[in-house]
Amino acid sequence: MAIRNIVKDGDSILLKKCRPVEKFNEKLWILLEDMADTMHDANGVGLAGPQVGLLRRVVVVDVGDGVIELVNPKIVVFSGEQDGAEGCLSFPGEYGMVKRPNYVKVRAQDRFGNFFEMEGRELLARAFCHELDHLDGVVFKSRASRMLGPDEL
Ligand code: NI
Repeated sequence: MAIRNIVKDGDSILLKKCRPVEKFNEKLWILLEDMADTMHDANGVGLAGPQVGLLRRVVVVDVGDGVIELVNPKIVVFSGEQDGAEGCLSFPGEYGMVKRPNYVKVRAQDRFGNFFEMEGRELLARAFCHELDHLDGVVFKSRASRMLGPDEL
């Protein structure tokens, strides 16, 4: 268990595309556990590889039902729409209105390399979309229709 440093706005690693994970070894497991610890410590609901300085396609999400680890994830089905306030641990104190699908199905590998699919609705769908965007160097501010002022938080 270790808390890693969260990369903040202004670091160009947040704008780079990640490479797939190829080795499902102890180094990956430690990374996933550290990412979950770091996310929980910062009271976040998701964290992606670039946010801990690694250009690898790894994501952790926890919207309150336990940690979900996604390795090499892809959105394979999406539908509906939701519009809501969104933030990011790499942009502390900043929130913007972002439209996302209301439902997504993600296909990913687990920490051992086994493929699985998982559905998400509402907040979980938003978290999946937000974190998977990070793997392609896309940050939420670039998708926000507008940023929220301090009186709107
Ligand atoms: Ni983020």
